[in-house]
Amino acid sequence: MYNEKVHILDHPLVQHKLTILRDERTGVKEFREVVSEIAALECYEATRDLPLTDVEVKTPVATGTFKTLYGKKLAIVPILRAGLGMVDGMLRMIPSAKVGHIGLYRDPETHAPVEYYCKMPPDIADREVFILDPMLATGGSASAAITFIKGYGCRHIHLMNIIAAPEGLALIQRDHPDVEIYVAAVDEKLNEHAYIVPGLGDAGDRIFGTR
Ligand code: PRP
Ligand code: URA
Repeated sequence: MYNEKVHILDHPLVQHKLTILRDERTGVKEFREVVSEIAALECYEATRDLPLTDVEVKTPVATGTFKTLYGKKLAIVPILRAGLGMVDGMLRMIPSAKVGHIGLYRDPETHAPVEYYCKMPPDIADREVFILDPMLATGGSASAAITFIKGYGCRHIHLMNIIAAPEGLALIQRDHPDVEIYVAAVDEKLNEHAYIVPGLGDAGDRIFGTR
C-alpha cells in the first residue's frame, strides 16, 4: 500500500510501548519515558544503512580489524514542541549528532502549520537529517519542515514519527517522495479536528503536561 520509503516498525517492543502511549491513563512521567524509548528503537532502524569502515583495535587478548562508523555527519531536528520528546532517545543512539530546532504549530482553525522558530547547525547542508515529530496527522507540519530543511541544501532526510494518519503519509509521499519515513503505526483516519483516530491525543500536551 505504501512504497519502500515508508518503514512501519512492527517490532513487538515498539508495539507494546505504543499501546502504553495510547492509554489515556498513562501519566506524564511514563509517557515521556516511553516516547524516548520508542525514538531510540526507531533510531536503531533508521540508521541501518550508515556506512562503516575498518579500524585496527587491540583488545586485551589480540589485535584485530573491526568496524566503526565512517565519518557520517548527522543532525536531528525536532519539530517543537512534541518532537522534543524524541530528542533524548535519538541522542542516546547517536550522541555526536548536532541538533537543530524548528518551531511550528497548527492553526486551530485551518490546521495549517505556522512557523515561529528556527535554529539550525551552520553545516546542516552537509548532514544527514532526522526530523522528529511523534504525530503525522494532516502532514502539513512535517511537509513544511522538510521543505524548510531542504531550503538549506539538505538532501538526505528521514522523517521519524510514532503515529501517522494515512492522510499525512500520502501528503509526504506526494510532496517529498525522496524522504524515508519511520513510524510505529499507521492509524485509521483523522477526525473533524484533524486529530488521529484512535491515536494518542495531543502529543505535546501529554509530554509536557499542559492539558
Ligand atoms: C502537533 C504535532 C505535529 C502536528 C501534526 O503539533 O506535534 O507537529 O501537530 O499535525 P499535522 O500533521 O496536521 O501538521 P501541535 O501543532 O499540536 O503543536 P505542539 O507540538 O506545540 O503541541
Ligand atoms: N497532533 C497531535 O498531537 N495529535 C494528533 O492526533 C494530531 C495532531
